[in-house]
Amino acid sequence: MPFITFEGVEGSGKSTQLARAAVKLRETGREVFDTREPGGTAIGRKIREILMDVSHAHLDPAAEWLLLEADRRQHVVEAIRPALARGVFVLCDRYSDSTTAYQAAGRGLDAEGVEFVDAIARDGLAPDLTLLYDVMPGEGLARARSRDGGTGRFEAADAAFHERVRLAYLEIARRRPERVRVLPAAGTPDEVFRSTWAALTRAFPL
Ligand SMILES: Nc1ncnc2c1ncn2[C@@H]1O[C@H](COP(=O)(O)OP(=O)(O)OP(=O)(O)O)[C@@H](O)[C@H]1O
Ligand SMILES: [Mg+2]
Repeated sequence: MPFITFEGVEGSGKSTQLARAAVKLRETGREVFDTREPGGTAIGRKIREILMDVSHAHLDPAAEWLLLEADRRQHVVEAIRPALARGVFVLCDRYSDSTTAYQAAGRGLDAEGVEFVDAIARDGLAPDLTLLYDVMPGEGLARARSRDGGTGRFEAADAAFHERVRLAYLEIARRRPERVRVLPAAGTPDEVFRSTWAALTRAFPL
């Protein structure tokens, strides 16, 4: 069954759109497993706490990356693959493209090394569809700040970091047009959701 990932810069609307998609898919009678990274399992939630803690400003970039890969491995094995085997729609808030964008492009880690280890972490599992919410990083950060003060470790990174992340996402979309749909995300939540639903129903006629 379909494995769909939601990607984009901070505050681009991933979680908002995923929640709406889950509601509407359930309304159409589909069973949905909605989850997120990091933190999709009990072990992953402990890893998430380490990653998000703003007192961990000195967390080494490669240590950060490997924690994310540990979270992903546990998530795929314990939760995502079993859900796909049950035949439900799996909607995941961030997945491997986040690591390519944030840890390789954003933090500057070796892209080939990241790709190699990530393939182990996700056990070779690739999404069937990725929705990439594209918004200028400044706009997304402003939304995230009005939501919760924007106090996370990633939100605290400088503007150039977020610009690298955005461009890396667009490069992934350019290289994987069969998997990734770029959805402009500057409009209202309702407008963006029309694009979300159109992309989902086009890929998986309901
Ligand atoms: N299209 C939109 N226009 C304006 N505000 C929005 C839009 N979509 C979501 N928001 C609001 O912006 C904030 C960030 O949205 P959301 O949490 O969905 O983004 P996100 O991509 O999941 O962020 P993060 O990367 O921090 O997880 C929330 O307060 C949300 O209500
Ligand atoms: Mg979110």
